[in-house]
Amino acid sequence: MKVLVIGGGGREHALAWKLAQSERVQRVYVAPGNGGTAQDATLHNVPLHTPQELADFAVAEKVALTVVGPEAPLAAGVVDLFRARGLRIFGPTRAAAQLESSKAHAKEFMQRHGIPTALYATFTGAAEAHAHVNKHGAPIVIKADGLAAGKGVVVAMTLEEAHAAIDDMLGSNSIGVQHNAEGARVVIEEFMQGEEASFIVLCDGKNVLTLATSQDHKRIGDGDTGPNTGGMGAYSPAPVVTPDVHARVMREIIHPTISGMAKDGVPYTGFLYAGLMIDAQGQPRTVEFNCRLGDPEAQVILMRLKSDLFEVLMHATDGTLDQVELQWDRRTALGVVMAAHGYPAAPRKGDALTGMPAGTPDLQVFHAGTALDGGTLKVSGGRVLCVTALGDSVRLAQQAALAAVRQIHFDGAQWRNDIGHRGIKSPQAH
Ligand code: AMP
Ligand code: GLY
Repeated sequence: MKVLVIGGGGREHALAWKLAQSERVQRVYVAPGNGGTAQDATLHNVPLHTPQELADFAVAEKVALTVVGPEAPLAAGVVDLFRARGLRIFGPTRAAAQLESSKAHAKEFMQRHGIPTALYATFTGAAEAHAHVNKHGAPIVIKADGLAAGKGVVVAMTLEEAHAAIDDMLGSNSIGVQHNAEGARVVIEEFMQGEEASFIVLCDGKNVLTLATSQDHKRIGDGDTGPNTGGMGAYSPAPVVTPDVHARVMREIIHPTISGMAKDGVPYTGFLYAGLMIDAQGQPRTVEFNCRLGDPEAQVILMRLKSDLFEVLMHATDGTLDQVELQWDRRTALGVVMAAHGYPAAPRKGDALTGMPAGTPDLQVFHAGTALDGGTLKVSGGRVLCVTALGDSVRLAQQAALAAVRQIHFDGAQWRNDIGHRGIKSPQAH
């Protein structure tokens, strides 16, 4: 069987790497892929981008299964197009993907179906938005409605920051939000306190299969300081998701979401990612939905998955996920992202990479922003690598990942030394 993975980041490298391990898979294409998928002899990059090009390729190559990594092709309707042409693809339709592509839609959906989330209001006019912020005070959260590559959220600790974010999102748009059909809108939310976790499931329209839990680290700097990024590292499992919290998430968030989508006439198929805020009492609330795997969450989750991902996704596209039980490595997987000089504001491209360690079953270097230039591996994007290791504890997995990170070199490389810190007990703790 031939498989096509759409995307070119670390998440897609991990998906392709895992799918290539299946005995039933002869060939894995990655469109467009990156320097890492180009170097991997078991994977084949194809320079395709539009849904039309991808569908034509899937027909010509008799691709048995297509898996979509990022949100943009989903919002562009790649699943709708593939299905209309009789092609098997795993992901949500364009209508279902609005759970991620429109924050305003997602909030309205959660409110209507009683799914716990922060209180919110939506604005198109700057004057009303400014008045709302003045009334509620800081901290407060300002979100652009539309895809913004992770940059459309400002957690404003002061009123000044909140007002500036409104002016930017409804005015100059210097962060480059892709507005939805309704035009520029902002969602203003109550600030939620707690610990975040990523809760990702597979859905086939009616059945749900949970993946292992994980936790991302969004800030660029150690100690969760500095600007937000797409994610600087992750580990799995996330201890904050205790069995009790897990049961509540399923009962209060995941099941109502899947049945709510079905009731709304938009059955959900694909990966569904609930970003959670879990408070001190263990009450989970939804920060956001993503209609895809997380990046770098996918890298750590797939590192622990023992089951054949191809088989699982065939069940997911047949509507028989109820027949699947996933097997997990009991150890912790921890991934440290190495980012380019200047990331996230202005990542520098072109720096050459050296010292890449060979992959082993317990250590994988998933590529994201790399490209092969002649025979040389060079930086081509903001997040460059995700160095992912398995270990018997969070600390051991962190040590193994960091040991590999220190062997790798490119000028200006940035990484965090504290990925997994919430899962590592301090020496004083009991
Ligand atoms: P989002 O893109 O909606 O996931 O937001 C990005 C990040 O902003 C989240 O991972 C949280 O750290 C933070 N965030 C978003 N909404 C809230 C909220 N209502 N309260 C506190 N933090 C939030
Ligand atoms: N790591 C966060 C995301 O993929 O949205």
